[in-house]
Amino acid sequence: MDGNGRWATQRGWPRVRGHKEGLKSVEELLETAPDLGIKHFTLFAFSTENWKRPKAEVSALMTLFRFYLRNFLSQLKAKRVRFHHLGSLDGFSASIRKDIKALEAATADHEGMVFHLAANYGSRLELVQATRRCLADGLKMDEINEEAISTRLWTAGVPDVDLLIRTSGEMRISNFLLWQSAYAEFYITDCLWPDFRTPQLKQALDEYSRRERRFGGL
Ligand code: FPP
Repeated sequence: MDGNGRWATQRGWPRVRGHKEGLKSVEELLETAPDLGIKHFTLFAFSTENWKRPKAEVSALMTLFRFYLRNFLSQLKAKRVRFHHLGSLDGFSASIRKDIKALEAATADHEGMVFHLAANYGSRLELVQATRRCLADGLKMDEINEEAISTRLWTAGVPDVDLLIRTSGEMRISNFLLWQSAYAEFYITDCLWPDFRTPQLKQALDEYSRRERRFGGL
């Protein structure tokens, strides 16, 4: 969801207005992505590093997050979309933690697209906690393999990333799904997140469909 701040700044507006507009893109894409054949849709909304932003921005983002968690259930119900939080719950207020759990529970039986919201997500943290789980589960050295790690990530059971879209022209991965993106196709667009809507998603999927994926083979 990169570029919310720039989108607002370019218009002389406060950054939070860009975040609000970015949520309109989320709303729209949750409607249209399932119809485009997407089964797993992940958005990187807030990283473990984003807590370092000015207090006022973090607080505004938390308010928006709480609003989202409480108001989007009807949309997720209508489209039979299942909500899944990706990341650590540590650091969120008790009420946000409760709302995350409630939205996951309320959509648990939805059989449509899964919407993974990466919030307080960091791939390195995820890998550290998966490694700790291996130890806690008493795994011996020769039992530690790709499956042992994959099944202890927050994405356990979720397919690897096929297409990774980065908006606002950034050329970095920024601690996002490092393990899961091992063979992901990258699509980088200058479009800022609030302007990234259905036509832009279709264009990315179009380009993806022309890629030849070899997964290290020939
Ligand atoms: C990236 O744009 C966007 C974010 C860091 C926050 C997006 C999240 C929400 C709008 C919803 C709130 C949800 C949660 C989970 C807190 P940027 O600010 O980095 O934009 P810039 O690169 O143009 O500065």
